Amino acid sequence: MVFSLFQKPKKPILARCHDDQATKMRLKYAPYYHAMQSQCGTDVTLGGRPAIMLASNDYLGLSFHPKVTEAACAALRKWGTSSTGARISNGSRAYHIEFEEKLAAFLGREACHVHSAGYLSCVSAVASFAQKGDIILADKNNHSCLWDGARLSHAQVERFSHNNTADLADLAASLPANAPKMFVAEGVYSMEGHIAALPALLDVADQYNCFNVIDDAHGFGVLGREGRGTVDHFGLNDRVDVLCGSLSKSLSSTGGFVAASRDLIEYLRTNSKQTIFSAALSPAQTAAAQAALDVLQTEPGHLERLWRNTKRYRDILHSLKLDTWGSETPAIPIVLGSKERVYRFWQTLLEKGVFTVMSIAPAVPPGKDLIRTAISAQHTDEQLDRIAEAMACAAKKL
Ligand SMILES: Cc1ncc(COP(=O)(O)O)c(C=O)c1O
Repeated sequence: MVFSLFQKPKKPILARCHDDQATKMRLKYAPYYHAMQSQCGTDVTLGGRPAIMLASNDYLGLSFHPKVTEAACAALRKWGTSSTGARISNGSRAYHIEFEEKLAAFLGREACHVHSAGYLSCVSAVASFAQKGDIILADKNNHSCLWDGARLSHAQVERFSHNNTADLADLAASLPANAPKMFVAEGVYSMEGHIAALPALLDVADQYNCFNVIDDAHGFGVLGREGRGTVDHFGLNDRVDVLCGSLSKSLSSTGGFVAASRDLIEYLRTNSKQTIFSAALSPAQTAAAQAALDVLQTEPGHLERLWRNTKRYRDILHSLKLDTWGSETPAIPIVLGSKERVYRFWQTLLEKGVFTVMSIAPAVPPGKDLIRTAISAQHTDEQLDRIAEAMACAAKKL
């Protein structure tokens, strides 16, 4: 093709972005990036209208707890706004060490390292310990951060069917016996709300001598004694090598952690690029997470309320014959199977004053287009009544 001097060919990357079908679809349905004008607990304002937040990861509803907000304000006054650098150089502070020690003790681990995002923690939990020549056995539905960690490690990556012990066993048996192996799974799968079948999966992983990494972003604060997570729920603490997770869900902050034995954490601190080359967790984030961790242990009512709300909400959905993908946790999807149905359902809920999140292919497998909802300890009985009414209306319109 000949172009005149004034007709330069479109930049290939620009053309690819302009022609992207998924982007076109998102422009049509505008499913993401809804900006709330205000929030107080589970009450939000969107487009000038009040709505109930039914899609937050603030499972215990502590982000407006006075002890948590006060701790964050006090840390800001004492330490300023920023950690001002990476932990390895100038960014380490006494508040990091204090929180890491408390979190490690809570999780029954020798040591812990915190990062400024859960994503960074989970990437580094995989990428720091696996390397070229290793084989990573990963649940097909693992979170994107675990795939990124696997890719950065340069290890060979093999997938097994979601939460499927038999498939993991077949996969492990088919791999070279003497290659070092890593098993990577989540404790709770946030899109599906499934609890991983960890006892059986770890039996297989142990049989093949796999080092294991468990991302418990959505089990922490929700399952186990005082919310110690999925590993504690199953009593498997001494069988898990590395536990990672997020501070942005039940701990109502942002940031993440990796918890393990002292030598593994020391190894991570000097081998992980995500740890070495990224600024440390900020003072307010750390203080909020630490205060929430204290609340978790001193005010058991939040966890009790979370599970009471979860049961009632799940019953509402089941009474309407909605497909919740077998969710067992407060993260509860409503599988609707096509983008059009998802969009209509989502819109009706919003009209009725309930905010949820659309998740459509390719973010979910084809035919699994869904509405992601999550219940919080902070939802009141009256809000649950309104949610029930909105769900009934949306289900009827389907
Ligand atoms: C399973 C899982 N791991 C890690 C993360 C990352 O956590 P953060 O959002 O705190 O970066 C998420 C967040 O959605 C998650 O769902």
